[in-house]
Amino acid sequence: MVDVPHALAVNNCTVGLELAYAAAGVVAGDEVIVPALTFVATANAAVRLGATPVFADVTSDDDLCVDPADIARKVTDRTRAVVAVHYAGFAADVAGIRAALDARGAAHVALVEDCAHAPGSRARGGDARCGSLGAVGAFSFFSNKNMTTGEGGMLTTRDDATAATLRLLRSHGMTTLTWDRHRGHAFTYDVARVGTNARMDEIRAAIGRIQLRKVLGANARRAEVVRWYREGVRARGAALAGLAIPFSGDHYGEGSHHLFVVLLPRGSDRERVMTSLREAGVQTSIHYPPTHRFTAYASTPSGAAELPRTDAAFERLLTLPLGPSMTRAQVDLVLDSVALALR
Ligand SMILES: Cc1ncc(COP(=O)(O)O)c(C=O)c1O
Repeated sequence: MVDVPHALAVNNCTVGLELAYAAAGVVAGDEVIVPALTFVATANAAVRLGATPVFADVTSDDDLCVDPADIARKVTDRTRAVVAVHYAGFAADVAGIRAALDARGAAHVALVEDCAHAPGSRARGGDARCGSLGAVGAFSFFSNKNMTTGEGGMLTTRDDATAATLRLLRSHGMTTLTWDRHRGHAFTYDVARVGTNARMDEIRAAIGRIQLRKVLGANARRAEVVRWYREGVRARGAALAGLAIPFSGDHYGEGSHHLFVVLLPRGSDRERVMTSLREAGVQTSIHYPPTHRFTAYASTPSGAAELPRTDAAFERLLTLPLGPSMTRAQVDLVLDSVALALR
């Protein structure tokens, strides 16, 4: 689906990111530029390698993916990798990031894609799928994702040498595995570099093969639900005035619509809105508390990042229900409940 020669199943995306960063050459003491508006795993995976995450801001209230210009500002001699998170299932501006790195004389910096939200998403202004745009793409098949194996993930890459490194790292660094030896290809093995056990098991892989057949159809259903949401917000006029839906316009490319995120009107009391929605039977969540604000990061050098646009967007963020089986009546129920909550 991603149209790359190598796809390696792993046990989850978090460990997959660790492998991806390591294959990109990240070692202790390096810096990895990551957005703060993402799940904490994006940064944690760098810290687990002894690297320092350097947080970059979102582009705008409408484009909640990482800002190429802010990445360019944050490049140093120690920068080894940049992570593009395709937030909510919309491709980050990968071409813009590459151009910004080139302009800074940092063409050698590896670009890793965090594709946890983006199975089936396409690049901005192109047909290429997320997962084929950088050195390595890391997908999640966790149970709340667009396609799932319960826990699980996949790494994609175009590069043969990178794939060989990822394969080694996935299985303790062993040069041959039990199956190779059973087939008579080898009698023993060497350990070429220190790796881990990041393998997916066959039962999950079997589930994943069925899920893979369904994911693009499910994404199309999600896109239809998002259209109903957008129409419903417009139709409600003043009752939802000030409520913004990010990623407006066609230039973001085809999204997987993993999350339906809105920005509440400025000055709204989000907790009261969430409480009112819960009472109406509507589940909401917040994607995400920015990583640099968490206790584990706030007191480190990474936590000193100034990210005014991330902070401003975070104040207003709310994720509304979205799934492939939602009906138009359910979308109306959600939006009527939001209007009541805001009133
Ligand atoms: C953006 C992002 N990156 C990484 C992960 C980690 O994925 P996993 O749960 O498969 O480890 C998630 C989700 O959980 C995510 O949303």
